[in-house]
Amino acid sequence: MTDNAMIYEILLITLTSAFIRASTDNCPVMECWFVQEKPGRGGFSAPVTQEKSLMYIRTNSDDASITQSSPPADIDPSRVYYVTDPAASFCRVPLHPPEGSVQKPQCEINPFLPQPSMVRWAASLTESGQSPIHLQADWFSVAAQGLDGQLVMSSIMRAPSGSKESQVILSISSRTAAVRSRLGEQVMLDCGFWVDPSSPLTGSGFSVEWRYQFRGEGRLVLAYDGKNDWLADTTETGTALDFSALHETGNASLILEEAQVRHSGTYICTVYLPNLLAQVALDLEVVEPPSLSIFLSPLPLIVPGQAVSVQCEASGFVPLSLELGWEFVGADGQSRSLGQGSMSGHKQASDGTYSQSSRLELDSARLGLGRGGEVTCVVKHTGGTRKAKVTLNVIGVSAPSIEDSMAMVAVALGLYGLIKVFSWTFSSTGSSNGDTKDKKEKLP
Ligand SMILES: *[C@@H]1O[C@H](CO)[C@@H](O)[C@H](O)[C@H]1NC(C)=O
Repeated sequence: MTDNAMIYEILLITLTSAFIRASTDNCPVMECWFVQEKPGRGGFSAPVTQEKSLMYIRTNSDDASITQSSPPADIDPSRVYYVTDPAASFCRVPLHPPEGSVQKPQCEINPFLPQPSMVRWAASLTESGQSPIHLQADWFSVAAQGLDGQLVMSSIMRAPSGSKESQVILSISSRTAAVRSRLGEQVMLDCGFWVDPSSPLTGSGFSVEWRYQFRGEGRLVLAYDGKNDWLADTTETGTALDFSALHETGNASLILEEAQVRHSGTYICTVYLPNLLAQVALDLEVVEPPSLSIFLSPLPLIVPGQAVSVQCEASGFVPLSLELGWEFVGADGQSRSLGQGSMSGHKQASDGTYSQSSRLELDSARLGLGRGGEVTCVVKHTGGTRKAKVTLNVIGVSAPSIEDSMAMVAVALGLYGLIKVFSWTFSSTGSSNGDTKDKKEKLP
C-alpha cells in the first residue's frame, strides 16, 4: 500500500516537473550533429566524423532538472550536453518548430580552440599576451539555423575540462539570414551579440567585423576595434553602424544605404572577444523586376495577310533569368498563348542590371487573329510579373465595320498630316516623301 502511494507520488512529481519544464522553457532539448576532424590527420580536406548529439538547455544554472533527463539510447552519452544559456539564445521560436514539422532546424557542434586573433582590429584584445586559466577548459562552438532563414546563430560554450555541463559565453545571431531588397532601397543586415556578464571576458573589449563574399571573392566591408574605438580603413562606402547601440546592447547591425547589384552576396558578421570569436553569415539578394517597353511596327493597323512585328524589351532587371511569353486576347475575349517569340541574348548595363528582348512576327492570316485584339508581353521574374500590351487592328475582315472605317479615316488623316509635316520639313528630301507614300499605298 505504502509502495503504491510512493509510486504515485513519484509519478506525480515527475509529471509536474515535466509540465513546469515545458511551460517555463520552450527549449528543453536541441538535436545537433557533433562534427569534428578525425584526430591525427591534419590538412586541407581532413575527413570529419559526424555524430548525433543532444543539448539540454536551461537558462538558469540552478535548474537541476535537465541533468536528470534520460537521453535516447541511439545517442552516445558522451555526446549529450547540459547547457546553461542565460540569454536564452537557443530558445528562440525559429529553432523550435511545432511538433511534427517535416523541416527541422539545423544545428552543429564543433570543438573550438581559443586563440588570439590575427586581424589588426582584434589584436588589441590579447596584446597583454596572458593566457588566463579561464581558457583551460573544453570549448565548443554551436551553429544553428532556424527555418526559412528567420534566424542564424552561433555560440561559444565553455565546459570545465571533462565536464558535460557547459555555459554559453558568447552568442551571436541574426534575424535576417536571408534578405531581399529592391535596387536603391536601404538594407538592414541584422547582427547582435551577447556576452555572459559573469564571464571574466566581460569588459575586456570586443571587435566587430563585416566581410562580403561572393563566388570566392571577398572584401572587408567594415572593421571596428571596440576596445580602442577605432575603425579600420576600407574601400566600402555607403555603410553605417550605430556605434552607441553596439556598445550598449551589442547591436552590430550593418546598414547599406542604397542597395546596388554589386551588393548581392553573403555577409559575414564576426564578433571577437579575447581569444574567442563567433560569426554568422547572411545572404543578401538584390532583386529588381524588369521595366517593359513594347513596340509594334510598322503600324497597329494591318490588313489580312499582312505581317506585323511586335517587340518587347525587358530592362533594368536583376538577377538574370526571366521567362517571357506572348499572349493574344481577341475581340471575342478569348486569350491564347503566342509562344515566347524570338528571344535576344541578354545585355548588362553599367549598373549591373540586365536587359533582354523578344520579337514576335504576327501574320494575321496564318495566326487567325480575326479582327485584331490585344497583344500582351508577359514577363515572369523572381521580382514579380510584369505585362505590357498593344492593340492591334486587323481591318477589312469581312465587310468593314463602322469602327474599321473610322479607324481608316483616322489613319488616313494621320498619314495626310504626316505627309504634310514631312513635306514642310523635308521639302528638299525626296526619300522621306517616298516612304510615307509607300505606307499610303498599302492602304486599301
Ligand atoms: C539594431 O540597429 C538597427 C539600426 O542600426 C535597428 O534597425 C535594429 O532594430 C536594432 N536591433 C535591435 C534588436 O535593437
